[in-house]
Amino acid sequence: MDIKGKTAIVTGSAGGIGRAAAVMLAARGAAEIALVDVKEAALAETARLVEAQGARATVHALDLSDIAATEAWFRAHGDVDILYNNAGVVSGAPQFSDVDAARVRWIIDVNVTALIAATQIAVQAMRRRGGGVIVNTVSTVALGTGFYDAMYATTKAAVMMFTRCCAGLKDECNVRVAGMLPGLVDTPILDTTGAGGKSEWMKTVLANNEACVPEDIAEAVMTLIEDDSLAGGDWVAVRRLGGKVEYQWGHADTV
Ligand SMILES: NC(=O)c1ccc[n+]([C@@H]2O[C@H](COP(=O)([O-])OP(=O)(O)OC[C@H]3O[C@@H](n4cnc5c(N)ncnc54)[C@H](O)[C@@H]3O)[C@@H](O)[C@H]2O)c1
Repeated sequence: MDIKGKTAIVTGSAGGIGRAAAVMLAARGAAEIALVDVKEAALAETARLVEAQGARATVHALDLSDIAATEAWFRAHGDVDILYNNAGVVSGAPQFSDVDAARVRWIIDVNVTALIAATQIAVQAMRRRGGGVIVNTVSTVALGTGFYDAMYATTKAAVMMFTRCCAGLKDECNVRVAGMLPGLVDTPILDTTGAGGKSEWMKTVLANNEACVPEDIAEAVMTLIEDDSLAGGDWVAVRRLGGKVEYQWGHADTV
């Protein structure tokens, strides 16, 4: 899809990858971007950066763990060309063995239930307007055999499968759903892995791996949006190795 003149929603756009993607969409000529996050003050800064690139920005404080509010918001605002489902959370402390059921429900709701609800409502609107592109932020943890944060990895594996299961929508109604799998990226989410900042395991991960910058991921998101030769359900993993950004493509079987 040519981004020029298009409308978009970016969730989790108060900082990190979401902010970088919103600013890049604006730089590529998007007409209007709805910025969604729980952090209203930081969203205002993203809006300023988006508008500096010449796009119109609207700011929406929405808690995606509130599924009824999320559905209502997307019914009111979800008629767009591009949806970037990017917001996400980690479990933080305590980890799985000691976490209570409410916290488990919270991470599933933010990372999975809200994303599916938003996608469903956007697909219905895109079908009416003749098509669209939806990008879901997964994680390279969805490719691995395990991860320190069990609930995070479980939710991202669910988003990966959901994305692949949306493959057929491209032929059915011209809605292409794609998966963005960031490797390690230096963003504020890393500071929420422990009780009062970075967990010890995250410090070890950071010490032993190169981190991407948010713009590395945003570039790949633009490719996923722009390249209509991709099949529905295709995904790309992005990592930094030896100072270079590396892409690993996954091409889904069409159903
Ligand atoms: N940073 C990494 O290493 C990494 C790696 C793989 C995947 N990811 C994924 O990338 C996405 C973006 O994360 P990031 O790294 O930019 O971190 P980030 O913390 O900067 O961005 C996540 C955003 O989601 C927002 N958010 C959290 N809960 C929300 C809620 N209930 N309602 C609305 N918004 C909410 C946060 O306020 C934040 O602005 C996430 O889905 C994350 O899981 C990150």
